[in-house]
Amino acid sequence: MTEVDQMDNNGGTMVSPAWAESAFLKACRCEPTDYTPVWLMRQAGRYMKEYRDLRSKVSFLDLCQRPDLATEVMITAVERLGVDAAIIFSDILLILQPMGMDLEYVAGTGPVLHNPVRTVDHAKALMEVEPAESLNYVFEAVKATRAALPPHLPLIGFAGAPFTVASYMIEGGGSKNYRYTKQFMYCYSSAWHDLMALITRATVKYLNGQATAGAQALQLFDSWIGCLSPADYQTFVFPHMQHLFASLSADVPVIHFGTGNATLLKQQREAGGDVIGLDFRVDLSSTWDQLGETAVQGNLDPCVLFADPEVIQQKSKLILDQVRGRNGHIFNLGHGVLPETPVDHVIELVDYVHNQSTKN
Ligand code: CP3
Repeated sequence: MTEVDQMDNNGGTMVSPAWAESAFLKACRCEPTDYTPVWLMRQAGRYMKEYRDLRSKVSFLDLCQRPDLATEVMITAVERLGVDAAIIFSDILLILQPMGMDLEYVAGTGPVLHNPVRTVDHAKALMEVEPAESLNYVFEAVKATRAALPPHLPLIGFAGAPFTVASYMIEGGGSKNYRYTKQFMYCYSSAWHDLMALITRATVKYLNGQATAGAQALQLFDSWIGCLSPADYQTFVFPHMQHLFASLSADVPVIHFGTGNATLLKQQREAGGDVIGLDFRVDLSSTWDQLGETAVQGNLDPCVLFADPEVIQQKSKLILDQVRGRNGHIFNLGHGVLPETPVDHVIELVDYVHNQSTKN
């Protein structure tokens, strides 16, 4: 019996679902694949006309909170692009609403938290999250998207990692230098650890719930972790990440992603994750050598998609050539698809990766 087979109630072996042998999940397990699986962070979004049309009628929050629409957005993107995995249509900041935070997506600005956490008292007033109640719409979106996808396509659930989520809570939105976040961390270190523990507890339940609802893999987005020194990562983040990974009960692979984090990758790998995300600033081959036995995901610069198709192919080939001979590479961008990206270029990228990597 292979590890992907499941036992039925009578102890017999059930047939594995088709996704278990998908190129994406095989790569997560560092098994050989017939071609390199590819999907793109932010593969559903404003660069697609279908998305913009829908968004002209519904707010972003409504889109996330309506499982039927979240499913439609993701299925449309997956069908148009021909990618090897789907990710649920959602956002890393939805978990903040049930904590008591006032979240708004402002056109042209991005997410805004109107009641940022700047003092110990603010942090103490935050509420414990019970995702089964307050975030049930996300679990419904996972179920609906899973049901609408063909069985060979795996579905990825996701959450923001505690540092990145905490940075939004404390800054009140995006940030350049994370001044308030670091000030909180350095000045109120005990309250910082309490805050990270609160987010970690919520995230564990949230991710376990997404896996139970039907996700075949999970991704933790620590998008802004690269603003920390290795010493600060070790003190203020590492223990929480280690605890988070250890508390994930589902038997599904987890992708651990960050950006600007070349100096932290070894610590992040030690904290946990089956697949390590590589942004576009690192050299794939030598970084993978340093990380050792692990699957990796990345690492094309999203801006390459604005170049001519020949350049896109040349840059993609450089990545594929660096990987040749190794198992466990998932092709992706080093960060999400940018809003004005030409859709045709994205489709051509996916085709190119498939054709170029197919083993005869
Ligand atoms: O990858 C996908 O296609 C799935 C959907 C997805 C979204 N957000 C949809 C979204 C995912 C995986 C995310 C994760 C997310 N959200 C991250 C981590 C990834 C990264 O980019 O680093 C972060 C930091 C956020 C927070 C966030 N949400 C920001 C900063 C913004 C505004 C900037 C932007 O790109 O629009 C959002 C809004 C958001 N999340 C949109 C989408 C499609 C745009 C909303 C709209 O105006 O229609």
